[in-house]
Amino acid sequence: RTRWIQHHASQRKLPPLVFTFDIDGVLLRGPHTIPAARRALDMLNGANPMGVKIPFILLTNGGGVGEEARRHKLSSQLGVEIHSNQIVQAHTILKSVVHKYADKPVLVLGGRNDVVRKVAEGYGFKKAYTTLDVLAWKPEVWPFHQLTPEERASTKPVDFSQTPISAIFVFHDPRNWALDTQVIVDVIRSGGIIGGSYLDTPPPSEQQPLSHHHQPSGELEGKNKHVELVFCNPDLLWKSDFPQPRLGQGAFREAFQAVYKALVGKTYPYIQYGKPTTATYKFAEKVLKDRLEELQGGRVEQMPTVYMVGDNPESDIAGANGAGWPSILVRTGVYDPAGGPPAHTPTYIAEDVEEAVRWAIEREM
Ligand code: G3P
Ligand code: MG
Repeated sequence: RTRWIQHHASQRKLPPLVFTFDIDGVLLRGPHTIPAARRALDMLNGANPMGVKIPFILLTNGGGVGEEARRHKLSSQLGVEIHSNQIVQAHTILKSVVHKYADKPVLVLGGRNDVVRKVAEGYGFKKAYTTLDVLAWKPEVWPFHQLTPEERASTKPVDFSQTPISAIFVFHDPRNWALDTQVIVDVIRSGGIIGGSYLDTPPPSEQQPLSHHHQPSGELEGKNKHVELVFCNPDLLWKSDFPQPRLGQGAFREAFQAVYKALVGKTYPYIQYGKPTTATYKFAEKVLKDRLEELQGGRVEQMPTVYMVGDNPESDIAGANGAGWPSILVRTGVYDPAGGPPAHTPTYIAEDVEEAVRWAIEREM
């Protein structure tokens, strides 16, 4: 208790520990709230041996909606007030890079209809287009999907032959992997102009019969413009309300890269955000520090110990271990004890988030 009192005195109101919670598989399972989550949040709200509120943020590889919309839904699902500066989604980090693309045409992928476009515009992207916009422009881009009335209503009139795409951001899980894969291939191979000639294949006269050793010559004439490809969530799997984990955005990335490699003989370079990347954990630490400074109304000189609670060893435990945060793996999500020890070793394995919170508090007393 001495340490706590000293710590308390130096930081005024801050307790010696704070939490970062993963969402799917820890607090929620699909649309359902995991019962232990409410009990855990009650403890953080003051019902704990320290008798103080313990701050926390949410760090998820999920997304597809704005932080304000997500916090609103989470507040009702969890029964506590969640603030938008308390939540880091897979694509929230893009706020820190939007300045590089604000006025350039970009493709934003994932989520339903144009919800992700609106999120991107909320971050500051001024020319954010969707693959549905592309299909509305030229249905022949992908002959196997006709826009539904709802999808068509979400599109913007764009002439992509005059709109060079400078970057592709996969915000959330694509709904139509085939359409999205086709459009990414068209954008990347043409250097940004959908329908433009592919820059990575020699002109027809020199074209050899394509063999699987085909390597396009890099020094083709004309600007071989590199289109940035950015993924925001590497999760191969995630826990929803089905007995087995579901395929995540990482599975889409694998599918795209396999198609691209079959076409041009190598995978395409990309930027990866989301747990467990260092970029995302550094971004989350900044969000947590800003939240703590808001709560105590002043600078936080020494950060309290940050405990990460997650269900996926690949994203939650690996990332927390890399960030130097104590990590607690729960058994209510992706991790299945029957499959043997987790691929990344947590500080502690708990039955659920309630046990995780109780264990961490007792450890800091
Ligand atoms: O796409 C959703 C999924 O990846 C969930 O993420 O980090 O909340 O378990 P998380
Ligand atoms: Mg999870």
